[in-house]
Amino acid sequence: MSQLFSPLAIREVTFRNRLWVSPMCMYSATDGFVNDWHHVHLAQFATGGAGLVVAEATAVVPEGRISPEDAGIWSDAHADAWRGIVRAIRDRGSVAGIQLAHAGRKASTHSPFADAQGSVPAEEGGWTTEAPSALAYEGFAEPEEMTAPRIAEVVDAFRAAARRSVDAGFEVIEVHAAHGYLLHEFLSPLTNRRADEYGGSLANRARFTLDVVRAVRAEVGEDIPVFVRFSATDSAPGGLEVDDVAQVAAWARDAGADLFDISSSGLVAHQKIEVGPGYQVPFAARVREATGALTGSVGIITSGAQAEEILAAGQSDVVFAGREWLRDPHFALRAAGELGEDPESIWPPQYIRGYRAPALARS
Ligand SMILES: Cc1cc2nc3c(=O)[nH]c(=O)nc-3n(C[C@H](O)[C@H](O)[C@H](O)COP(=O)(O)O)c2cc1C
Repeated sequence: MSQLFSPLAIREVTFRNRLWVSPMCMYSATDGFVNDWHHVHLAQFATGGAGLVVAEATAVVPEGRISPEDAGIWSDAHADAWRGIVRAIRDRGSVAGIQLAHAGRKASTHSPFADAQGSVPAEEGGWTTEAPSALAYEGFAEPEEMTAPRIAEVVDAFRAAARRSVDAGFEVIEVHAAHGYLLHEFLSPLTNRRADEYGGSLANRARFTLDVVRAVRAEVGEDIPVFVRFSATDSAPGGLEVDDVAQVAAWARDAGADLFDISSSGLVAHQKIEVGPGYQVPFAARVREATGALTGSVGIITSGAQAEEILAAGQSDVVFAGREWLRDPHFALRAAGELGEDPESIWPPQYIRGYRAPALARS
């Protein structure tokens, strides 16, 4: 059996394989409520063999949405809207996870497929954003600096969102601390200029993220895996580097996190990234080596063979993919074929005629 299709157990949750769906915003919710679009979108990946399907960045408070069309889970009614989606993922043999998020100074922006770009004005449903310091992302509106009591409120919002997520049936909680959103903004010296206990040293800049991880772990108990997505580097002078992030990951491991999903960048517009196949894998490998914790790699991983090579080389324990699942929602079924896995044990029985080519002729 390939490593990619070996099951993995974390706490009380068993994943049928290690080829997972990375969270992807759909910008298709109404007032934070998910709908049939999200249901079909996420369930198809479970049919397609994913070991875990992580639902998109889901805001823990309304002001934490990237765009007004983002998903949310700041009330019990929002959690109810997720229930059928979670059930559909589980019924198809996969595990449902959710990425809990606050977009910080990159909130209240137009979705990528809107005609306009940048910040959404108040008269069009936008809001004032919040961040560690009153520094705007290039081209976006200036955020307000968060007070210490407001930080505590947002920690509590992550906690409450984790509770609602588990009540809705999610079995993995991923804390979004990457891509230039709120927690990443606190972690990086480029966006955090605070003089209080949330700014200055790396330990102080990590305080908010670690408080969130501790709150989530305390709320969900010992059975549920908690992941954190980090940007391993800011790809900009004076920003975070992978060793800083490995240190924060080690603290997060001690605070109750089980797996680090290692991405990069997204903090500043002047970032310089060299993008190519598997370009973020060395970051995952570094975090894995430094923390001894489980890690996931992500970023232009598009075939079973490529994913298997990453696992076999010990660079990460699981592989997340995003766009390849959009191109082929049955990516894992295809990858299993590539790696010589027995389709009878992996394809849904309803689809078995899809790989028995001679049967195609029969009606
Ligand atoms: C449409 C789309 C939406 C995305 N939304 C999120 C998100 O909600 N949270 C997140 O952490 N990353 C998000 N990402 C980044 C992906 O999770 C992934 O890290 C990135 O696309 C690189 O992996 P890939 O090359 O396999 O697509 C998004 C990417 C795409 C294409």
